[in-house]
Amino acid sequence: MSTREPGDVLVSRDQLTARVSEMAAEISADYAGRDLLVIGILKGAVFFTADLVRELSIPCEIDFMAVSSYGSATQSSGVVRITKDLDVAVEGRDVLLVEDVIDSGRTLRYLMRNLAAREPASLEACALLSKPAADRLDLNTRYVGFRLPDVFVVGYGLDAGERYRELPYISVLS
Ligand code: IMP
Ligand code: MG
Repeated sequence: MSTREPGDVLVSRDQLTARVSEMAAEISADYAGRDLLVIGILKGAVFFTADLVRELSIPCEIDFMAVSSYGSATQSSGVVRITKDLDVAVEGRDVLLVEDVIDSGRTLRYLMRNLAAREPASLEACALLSKPAADRLDLNTRYVGFRLPDVFVVGYGLDAGERYRELPYISVLS
């Protein structure tokens, strides 16, 4: 096995492209005429955010936040910390948080609470992937790309100890 092939492909490049453009169409319709601020969560959501905004048919602003929740392990520590905050103010804006994957949901719940406290005009979340455990937290994530079983995946921005982010598809880590 080459070092660029960690395991079986779960979501192919073509499936990613098709789903991202579907999501972008939905978001474009929902946010038409509004003041859309897209906030991507580094580093995992960087490719998803970049592909998503390029498929939007409406204008938007883009900013990024970085949080640490996992360290380099594959299990959630439950501790979320902002390591890079936004450059722009969100007050009065229509904010769409873009996350790579919701596992336990703790990271997204923390970020939604943190951003809600800054009084945006509206606040919704968009996740490329969601795992079964996330449903138990009842986060009401407005846009979800793919629902996954409880497996650890890498690629298209997602890492295992900072590896495999560059893969153009999503693969199970075996
Ligand atoms: P949560 O707080 O348990 O929902 O975990 C969310 C964060 O954990 C994501 O932003 C990812 O950085 C990381 N994560 C969770 N599941 C995976 C996975 O399958 N592959 C890579 N990173 C993951
Ligand atoms: Mg990570």
